[in-house]
Amino acid sequence: MAALTSLQRSRKRRCPSHPMLSVSPALLSLLFIVPILYLLLIHRSSCSPLFSHRTAVGRSSSSVSGFAGDLRDIEFSWNHLPFTSSQPPLAKLKIAVFSRKWPVATAPGGMERHAHTLHTALAARGHRVHVFTSPPPHTEAAPSPTADGPQLHFLDGTPGQWRCDEAWKLYEAEGENDPFDVIHSESVAVFHRYARGVPNLVVTWHGISLEALHSGIYQDLARGEDEPMSPAFNQSLSESVRRVLSEVRFFRSYAHQVAISDSTGEMLRDVYQIPGRRVHVILNGVDEAQFTPDAQLGREFREEIDLPKSADLVLGVSGRLVKDKGHALLYEAFSKLALRHPNVYLLVAGKGPWESRYMDLGRNAKVLGAVSPGKLRAFYNALDVFVDPTLRPQGLDLTLMEAMQCGKPVVATRFPSIKGSVVVDDEFGHMFAPNVESLLESLEAVVKDGARRAAERGRACREYAKSMFAATKMALAYERLFLCVKNESFCGRKS
Ligand SMILES: *[C@@H]1O[C@H](CO)[C@@H](O)[C@H](O)[C@H]1NC(C)=O
Ligand SMILES: *[C@@H]1O[C@H](CO)[C@@H](O)[C@H](O)[C@H]1NC(C)=O
Repeated sequence: MAALTSLQRSRKRRCPSHPMLSVSPALLSLLFIVPILYLLLIHRSSCSPLFSHRTAVGRSSSSVSGFAGDLRDIEFSWNHLPFTSSQPPLAKLKIAVFSRKWPVATAPGGMERHAHTLHTALAARGHRVHVFTSPPPHTEAAPSPTADGPQLHFLDGTPGQWRCDEAWKLYEAEGENDPFDVIHSESVAVFHRYARGVPNLVVTWHGISLEALHSGIYQDLARGEDEPMSPAFNQSLSESVRRVLSEVRFFRSYAHQVAISDSTGEMLRDVYQIPGRRVHVILNGVDEAQFTPDAQLGREFREEIDLPKSADLVLGVSGRLVKDKGHALLYEAFSKLALRHPNVYLLVAGKGPWESRYMDLGRNAKVLGAVSPGKLRAFYNALDVFVDPTLRPQGLDLTLMEAMQCGKPVVATRFPSIKGSVVVDDEFGHMFAPNVESLLESLEAVVKDGARRAAERGRACREYAKSMFAATKMALAYERLFLCVKNESFCGRKS
């Protein structure tokens, strides 16, 4: 989304031809593959496999949680810090939130869910939260405000259409007599020309173009030998280089920037050249009350979908069933796996073009269609191992965190974001390079492990997820950041 808007803007205000822009797309790609390779290979390979070292090079786990000093200096994620919700906020804040969408629809995306989870929690802690968002879809009634929830300001006009200038006017009117302490923009909801020079603005990037470029490389490498490259994909791949350049230039307008993975934090500091004190890593969280281990619920779900009792191992995948989520890879790899191991099953939750392909796999694949939010916990609990074959590293898939909160180990793509912030310990599962052979190798390893070993790994996942991916933890980290943005006296932390 960040990329799109910047692109639209760069069309309007075309820069006088910059020397870089006349270079061929191929050469530009090379220029950007170098930093990616640096991030991927050189930097990471020097890190120890222990998560405390991977996320905070050179610090032991105790010095991470016992950190004393200025919070703006830390490079590891704030989720490591031991915040507790038993204490009231150090001060009550008035917070303006700019979010293109607010979840009124039935299948909200990751960014809306993040905005909703975070700001509902902050409002419940007594902060005055005002959300500025697009008009709701005609089919959905605007949600009625709750006494302790955020106050919602829907724009007028075409449903779903975001107009930053209108939202900014509403914000100014609301803050006229009682100014806001902090402004929070979900990705580029606040355009950079409004953000420039606003010291108390915090933006959360849910995916940046450097990750999109990386995704493009992976998607093309996963293309079959006789599968032609589509002209649209070819175009978007070369445009992604220009989008990175544009982002590097306009991101600096935002005073404070939150990266939702450790690797995005590194890219913002090292490739986008944002000063480290303005980059803060806060991982997204998922509702810890909703996602918990429950073996009984899992067994009931297996019965409900008529899964044979003889199943040796149950794998599961969920989300949009589209190509760039890696379903072509999983389909190929699993069809080979099922031939060798007829008692291994795959549960497929979600909608999309790959639904019918999975049905071709016969009895080993249970295609469930969309699983309602109320059923998700049962779904995760019915699995032995959760698989996320995504080829899109933009942002960080919440499904991985949900599965781990439910005590399930994962098989996931070896992306810097996943490796650096989610599967940070070999115990948590297996990672694969995005090609069929590598995925099949991981799946074979999972089968060799067996269900009992998967459960053991799952307990380690649960412990880590509970401490790092809880929504409460995320909300407390943002609260502390917002306080620090309001007044520097809140930026220090005693051990
Ligand atoms: C992709 O587009 C470039 C021009 O930008 C062209 O030279 C190249 O042949 C295209 N590649 C494919 C595989 O279509
Ligand atoms: C910041 O907080 C300190 C201590 O609470 C207070 O003395 C100071 O006036 C505050 N500064 C601003 C700019 O509000």
